Parts: sequence; C-alpha cells; structure tokens
Amino acid sequence: MLPTQITSFEHYQSEYARSVNDPEGFWAKQASTFNWRKKWDHVLEWNFEEPNIKWFQGGKLNITENCLDRHLATRSQQTALLFEPNAPGDPARHISYRELYEEVCKTGNALRELGIGKGDRVCFYMPMVPELAISVLACARIGAIHSVVFAGFSAQALADRVNDADCKMIICSDYNKRGNKNIGVKEIVDEALAIGCPSVQTVLVHRNTGEEIAWDESYDVWYHEKVDGQAAECPAEEMDAEDVLFILYTSGSTGKPKGVVHTCGGYMVYTAYSFLNVFQYQPGDVYWCTADIGWITGHSYIVYGPLLCGATSLMFEGVPTYPDAGRFWEVCAKHKVNQFYTAPTAIRALMAQGDEFTEGYDLSHLKVIGSVGEPINEEAWEWYKKHIGKDTVPVVDTWWQTETGGMMISGMGGHSPQKPTFAGYPLPGIQPCLVDKNTMQEEEGNPAAGLLAIKFPWPSILRTTWGDHLRCKHTYFSTIPGMYFTGDGARRDADGMYRIIGRVDDVVNVSGHRLGTAEVENAIDEHPQVVESAVVGYPHDIKGQGIYAYVIVGAGAGADDALRAEIVATVRQEIGPIAKPDKIQFVSALPKTRSGKIMRRILRKIAAGEQDSLGDVSTLLNPEVVEELILGRV
Ligand code: PRX
Repeated sequence: MLPTQITSFEHYQSEYARSVNDPEGFWAKQASTFNWRKKWDHVLEWNFEEPNIKWFQGGKLNITENCLDRHLATRSQQTALLFEPNAPGDPARHISYRELYEEVCKTGNALRELGIGKGDRVCFYMPMVPELAISVLACARIGAIHSVVFAGFSAQALADRVNDADCKMIICSDYNKRGNKNIGVKEIVDEALAIGCPSVQTVLVHRNTGEEIAWDESYDVWYHEKVDGQAAECPAEEMDAEDVLFILYTSGSTGKPKGVVHTCGGYMVYTAYSFLNVFQYQPGDVYWCTADIGWITGHSYIVYGPLLCGATSLMFEGVPTYPDAGRFWEVCAKHKVNQFYTAPTAIRALMAQGDEFTEGYDLSHLKVIGSVGEPINEEAWEWYKKHIGKDTVPVVDTWWQTETGGMMISGMGGHSPQKPTFAGYPLPGIQPCLVDKNTMQEEEGNPAAGLLAIKFPWPSILRTTWGDHLRCKHTYFSTIPGMYFTGDGARRDADGMYRIIGRVDDVVNVSGHRLGTAEVENAIDEHPQVVESAVVGYPHDIKGQGIYAYVIVGAGAGADDALRAEIVATVRQEIGPIAKPDKIQFVSALPKTRSGKIMRRILRKIAAGEQDSLGDVSTLLNPEVVEELILGRV
C-alpha cells in the first residue's frame, strides 16, 4: 500500500485541512500504509523548547523492508535503480527490485562480517554509482548509521566529518569519473586518514575504474572481495521508529558544519508521502533526480522516497555538460523519463549554453519537472518551462532543507496553481508562517513578508545535531519562541502562495550548495599571510550566489594574483572546490561597529555593486574605510 495520493487541488485543500485539524490522525493513516514489525504506541510527542520530537514512538521497523522486501511480491522484476554512466557510450544498468534486494543483503552481511552493527557510524565518500545506494541501504538494513560526505569535499573536510561522528568505517571508490575528469577518491581518503581519523578501522574500497591505488593491508578491504559470495538474504535489524537512520552534515552561520540527525520512522513516512505527491508518481514511471547522494536531495529523492514507493529511480554518474550541454535531455529521451528534478544552477548553466542543446530530443514523456536547492529566478523558470516542459509540463519549485528531511512547500505536480519564482503552498502536514524580524510575532493575513518559520512538527523534522543537542536548540528553536526557524526569508502573495527570498543568516548558497561564511573565512584565515577576512555572497548569473572575500594581509605580503591563487588553494584544501572564493579584494581594514563587529550589510552591498544604497555608515568605528572598499571593488 502507498500513502494517499492527491488527485486535484480541491483534494489537496481538503487533505491539508485534515492534516492541520488532526495531525496525529492524518499521519497515523499515512504511516499505516507501511510495514511495521510492531505498531507505534503514540503518534506524536513533542515540544520545540528542548526540542524533543518523537514520531511513532514504540513502533518497530526496518526502512529497507519497506524499500525492498515488500515490493518483491509485486515488482521483483521491475527496475528499481536505473544507472546511467558518465560516458554516454557505456551501457546503462537496470537493477531490478530483486537484484537490489540481494545486493543490499550481501553488502549488509559483508558489513556485519567486518564488525559493523547497530548504531555504528559508517562514512561514505563515493561517486554516484549504484554501490553507493546499495551500501547506504545495507547500513540501514543492519541498523548502522550512514554519514554520506559529498565526494567533492577535501580530505580535511572529510576528516572533520569522520571524526565528529567517530565513524568506524569509510566506504569509498578507487576513482570517480565526472565528465573528462578522473578524481582519485581513495587518495583523498588516505589523506584524511593521514590527517588523523582514529575511529576508522576499515576502508572498504569499491573498484570503480580499476586503476592503480595505494593499498594498506592494515585497513583497506576490497568491496567486491567482501561482498561477492555473501548470502543474498540478510535479516534486517529491528529498529525503533526514533532510532537514528543517518547523519548528514550541513553548514550553518557559525562554527563547523553540523551533523543533522534523521530517524527511521518519521523520515520514512514523510519522504514517501512527499515523493508520491509532489511528483505525482504513477506505477511504471521513470523518475530522475540529478542531485548527488552526498546531499539531502539525493538521500530523500534518489534513494529513500522513490524506493519506498516502488519507483524506478534513475541515478546518473556524470555531469550536465559532458559530452555536451544536451546530456540531460539525451538521457531523458533515452530512458523516457517521466519526472525530472534538478537545481536552478544547472538550469541556468544549460540555458547559457544555448537553446539548441535542448533540441532534437524527445522529451514528450515528461509529466512533471522540478527545481530545488535555491531560489529559481524568473528567466530560468520560464526557460525550463518552455524548452524542457514544452509549455505544458508543470514545474514544481520545491522548497526544503537538509533539516526538514523532505519537501515542505511545493506544487503537487500539475494539481497546484503555478507562478514563476513561487514555491507555492505547503504540503499537507506543514504549517509555515512568516514572522516579523523585530517583534518575532507572526504576520497574519496576505500579502505578508518575514522570516520563514514552521509552527508544528512534521514526521521528518531533524531530531538533533549529532553530539550537540544544545546547538540544535540554539540554531533552530531559539530565534523564534516555540517555532522551528528555517534561516530563510519569504513572502506570501495575496493568494497565500509562498516565495522564498533566500537566507537571512550568514549562509551563502553557491550553486545550490550551502556554505557558512564563517566556515569559508576560517579556511581563508589558514593562509599564513592572511590577518583577517570577511566573506559575503553576491549575485552570480549561473551560481545564484558567488563568494566575495575581503582579505587583510600581513605587512610585506604581495597583495597580488599569486596570493589570490594561494588563498583559493587554501580554501580548496580546507573545504573543497565548491567553497573557493570567486572574487578576492585585498583591503587595509574591514568596516566595524564600535563593538568590533564586522558590518556585513555594507560588505554585501559593495560586493553586489550597490554602493549607492549603503545607508548610514556614520555609526562605524572606521567610516573612512568604506571609500577604499568601493574604489577597490573587484
Ligand atoms: O535557502 C533555502 C535554499 O536552500 C536551503 C537549504 O539548503 P540545503 O539544506 O542544502 O538543502 C537543499 C536541498 C533541499 C534553504 O534554506 N532552498 C532550497 N530549496 C529552495 C531554496 N530556496 C528557494 N527555493 C527553493 N525551492
């Protein structure tokens, strides 16, 4: 059985009303469509003060029995994962539900043999190959907690994440093929271990390209040697609904990235429910999300949501521009993709390459096209609708976050009104509101604008941040009393549709990747000649936001392009290429308030070229620096 599928806008409205009037009844009904080893005792217990949020308490389950076992009777031969490799000439792999079940079982057995058990943390640093999805599910099968780190992060960033969660194992590949690039993944893992990861006992290496890698007998184990030959049945660990399913690191406005924690029961119910409704998935459809499993979008909408619903989920190893900017559309045509889900940054990048790359492909199978990760500007929305959706296919602009686990505000396929740049209405069960940033009071009525907050828990809300519950409380539940604060600002139009404006905290969204400005500053400051730095986002045509760094260097340092390149290299080493500054301006001082705080508002304005609307600078400790910053803008 599957959760309720909405069939019209009126149906959405009635389901929404029911979900608000009787949340427990609403979610109990959805949850009862899954296989539970034991039914829950209480649907919901919560307070947003501590916070303490528990869904389906006392319920026992294993999410993989819902992703795999329960489909075997009806769709064992149907493709579960459809793998499209990096090179267009290489054959696609169709992995049926039966095969996926067996592979997950074999890998689960291998992990158990290597000493991994319930509650142990396993870190992933892998390309987009089926073995990533398989072994993520294998962790869930045996109750181990997965922590997937995007394989574009640096060795240092990987080590930080491995150590924060005391991971016992890292699963990686030898190399990662992306477009023309061949990235030495195992080498980066070795570097992370050299930095120091004392908890790691085993590195399980998937042979992806088969090229030479360094090998250390004391911890390296070949994936195929351990997995092949295992039994194709693996008893699933019985999990409590509130046992941890995974940790996923994400950036915030302060400090190091934090491990967002999701649990088994609620995450299962919500990812399946939202997948089914936003994409209006029908049996037999081929669904494709272009995200990487290293991000929450890949977790919820490549792996869990689709498989829970018995879907065929396409997994793509490559990049949108290889061998050319038509690749996405070539793949859509080749596999007759019905639902396509990507990010505005990809849309803008492809749009910039020219319309001709979209031509000549049969996109007539598309029924829903989606967007996620950052605000989609009107031009990109229109282009997507016209050139990919051929003006007939509905666009779903889905707003959500790592912390929300699933899509929160979005159209329901073609059933909802559409308006460019508006994510639209909340999903059933989601109670958003706008809050005045000064009074912290809810803005009633429409239209309205303010901080975007959520008033009531939904099943896949984060439960804590790994190892630091207080941080979770401070970050999300303290700004607005009694509510979950998203960090975003938003507007509601006269009809109550939501438009997300963007982050209101010190987080930048570069190509849909979330980065804390403090995190980038800390990385820049690692360069020996840097005295101080301040990082802000600025509007970027393709990336949405670019990174602009104001940097003070020590006496005698040559403030030139060579130093710029060194600073960029430092950031690549500390975090990874996604965090490298697009622009670096050397300055003699930063604008500071009398209490010594950097006035970022001014830095943002100058970086955006809006120096004419700086506002009052007279309260600065050093107003004279503003002129220098404007003149030296890069
Ligand atoms: O600012 C919002 C933006 O991305 C942030 C969440 O980033 P992350 O946790 O990495 O998750 C991205 C994928 C779910 C949000 O706080 N964001 C995400 N989707 C949208 C968006 N901004 C506008 N419109 C969206 N559809």
